[in-house]
Amino acid sequence: MGGHRGTWGSQAGFILAAAGSAVGLGNLWKFPYLCWENGGGAFVATYLGAVVVLGLPLMMAEILVGRRAQASAVPAFAALGGPAWSWLGVLGVLAGVVILAYYTVIAGWSIRSFVLCLEWSFGGYPPDAGARFPAFLADGPQQVLLTTVFSFLTAFVVYRGVGAGIERASKVMMPVLFAILLYLLVTALRLPGAGEGLRHLLEPRFQDLPPQGVLLGVGQAFFSLSLGLGAMVAYGSYLSPQERIGRTAAWVVGLDTAVALIAAMVMFSLLHSIPGLPDRVSGSTVAMLFVTLPELFYTQMPGGTILAPLFYVLVAFAALTSTISLGEVATSYLVDRRNLPRGRATILSASVIWVGSVACALSLGAVPALSSLRVFAGKEGLLATLDHLAANWMLPLGGLGTALFVGWHLPAAAVASELGIREGSPAFVLFRWALRVVAPLAILGLLILVLTGRDLS
Ligand code: PFF
Repeated sequence: MGGHRGTWGSQAGFILAAAGSAVGLGNLWKFPYLCWENGGGAFVATYLGAVVVLGLPLMMAEILVGRRAQASAVPAFAALGGPAWSWLGVLGVLAGVVILAYYTVIAGWSIRSFVLCLEWSFGGYPPDAGARFPAFLADGPQQVLLTTVFSFLTAFVVYRGVGAGIERASKVMMPVLFAILLYLLVTALRLPGAGEGLRHLLEPRFQDLPPQGVLLGVGQAFFSLSLGLGAMVAYGSYLSPQERIGRTAAWVVGLDTAVALIAAMVMFSLLHSIPGLPDRVSGSTVAMLFVTLPELFYTQMPGGTILAPLFYVLVAFAALTSTISLGEVATSYLVDRRNLPRGRATILSASVIWVGSVACALSLGAVPALSSLRVFAGKEGLLATLDHLAANWMLPLGGLGTALFVGWHLPAAAVASELGIREGSPAFVLFRWALRVVAPLAILGLLILVLTGRDLS
């Protein structure tokens, strides 16, 4: 089976593509911000705990389901568990569509920042650059244009398929991303506040962790590792039967975590080096990535004129390898379930999602009806509403379903054989109990928190 569906050319190809999915705006923008707002080292420790206890087993579980069924999430859950379980896949496809619709908008900003930085690197950084951002948000035509460009890039890669598209793109982009990030880290660590920044980030002072910090860490682990919507089920379905799932998943989780930590080290070094900066960034995650950073590059950082455009190439690459995995969720659904050829499936899903993206792009001030839409308290506008819906509801529910499915529903012998380990081995027992008890309890805790009105997006 599987031959006509495409396979990864190598284990490294899978790891880079899956790590590409995981590493994205979540690492570069959400993670440093969450660390900053939630007590630094204590949040990092919590996040690392969530990654090891929940993230790794769920990553393995999703890959396992995809590879065993040789299908993306909807047919995979149906094939292994019966038709009733296909709802879990459908929820994932919906979550993928929702996330891709708004994620593309923010991803598109990286193109604008790149172009602006080129301009500034040659022509000088204008003093009012930061003040132009609100007008940019409300500029409908520009927002739609950027979103359309990014949607097109995503669809182009997905259209080309698994080996020639996703794998090849990831193999080029991921190493470049790591290289740029390391260069940034070396530069940031030379700043005067780097030592203090690292201490703040790495020293766990649990008295600084707000009560919801634990559950915020869990939510961030889901989003950052692309779990809970079947993206890793789809990628796993193209994985060769020879590869060890545990080791492969550990690589993906490790790379994602490393990128998040490095991004946070860079941000914390900057934040501790520039007096007055923390007050300006707190409260706005987006501003940190798209307004404050360019200012820092051009006014404070040695080599900033070269680093700034490079940095937004990095953001664009990271976002693109994530959007293609989201696009793959919807496309593989149409291929596997509706029997569409890959090309038509890509065009159809990309067009539908593009309509959603345009609506999100116009919900930042351009169209009042979309911008003032209010479903959840404190979430104004379509983009914020969809982010809230996906991060708070859809991903945790999908993760809960997957944990229960693999932990309780799949026969232990099948799970052990797919993982290539013995049923009685300590690793297997640990894996199974993580899925049976630990993950469901943690996720239920998260959902209860959301029900009582906490925001995790
Ligand atoms: N993991 C991505 C990030 O951290 O930015 C976001 C994401 C991509 C979530 C793909 C879900 C997904 F399927």
